[in-house]
Amino acid sequence: MTFAKGLQLVNRDESGIDLAFRADVLAGLASAQKAIPARWFYDDIGSQLFEDITQLPEYYPTRAEASILRSRSADIAKLIGPGRTVVEFGSGSSVKTPLLLSAIQPSAYVPLDIAGDFLRASSAALEEKFPGLPVYPVEADFMRRVELPGETASLPKLGFFPGSTIGNMIARTATDLLRSMRETLGEGALLLIGMDLVKDEEVLLAAYDDAAGVTAQFNLNLLTRINRELAGTVPVESFRHEARWNDTFARIEMHLVANEDISFTVSEQTFSMVAGESIHTENSHKFTRRSSQSLLAAGGWEPRARWTDEDGQFSLLLAEACAPRSAP
Ligand code: AVJ
Repeated sequence: MTFAKGLQLVNRDESGIDLAFRADVLAGLASAQKAIPARWFYDDIGSQLFEDITQLPEYYPTRAEASILRSRSADIAKLIGPGRTVVEFGSGSSVKTPLLLSAIQPSAYVPLDIAGDFLRASSAALEEKFPGLPVYPVEADFMRRVELPGETASLPKLGFFPGSTIGNMIARTATDLLRSMRETLGEGALLLIGMDLVKDEEVLLAAYDDAAGVTAQFNLNLLTRINRELAGTVPVESFRHEARWNDTFARIEMHLVANEDISFTVSEQTFSMVAGESIHTENSHKFTRRSSQSLLAAGGWEPRARWTDEDGQFSLLLAEACAPRSAP
């Protein structure tokens, strides 16, 4: 059964359980390396905790990306040109979207999100800030091709995907997403995408394991959410947050590690863990100039420009939808 919760469509059973959440958690806890997709972090509490993370002294990506948008706005605007419809994948980040929209002269703004509540809130805020700019929110799963509003059909598009959210995906999924973005945006489209950079391991680990323990709360909140929404008995206090650098895949991994042997139930299914065993909850891939440009090319996007912040921590890339060709 599908219930419409405002604009949001979530598949729930008779007792209100989000079936996709339950399926992901049960399958993830049953696998050899337990793993739960990072998208489930973002309930109301998790979304607030992520906002808090972006303010932490150790978490540099948000500040670094905003500083690129501020300091390079003239350059960015010149390459993008006026009159494009900005299609943002994930609905408006409070600081970055206004920075982009005021740097260029867009013809319309289309935020895409599966979470209707955030979509409405950020659309309303943007309409207030940019009177005269048409805003067409679309509730959709942007991992697949999305039908854009008819009003924007003849307008050239600029995709906007900030935050290094692409880094949450493994290469195959990231490539699929870039390809479907290209289909959504059409011929001649541009894409402005944020990608976090490989750097000193200590800096990375601190960004994902801050002194104030906010990232730990963010990670552990997933277990609280499971207990609340999936009738779980997970002993949250028996887990600790851990951030690890995986050098093979150039990524930070977040894990929830069991401090002792435990067993618990979720949706009436029993699971056990031994001390030291973990649930893998997030990948956050880090890129180099070459790896970022190769990933874009694999997804059908030709890199056109690249900017980094003063400290070389984060990169923002502009790419153009390229025609498929098999010969060199
Ligand atoms: C929102 C996915 C970009 O990977 O840096 C922050 C999420 N996780 N701290 C990231 C996150 C832990 C963030 N992204």
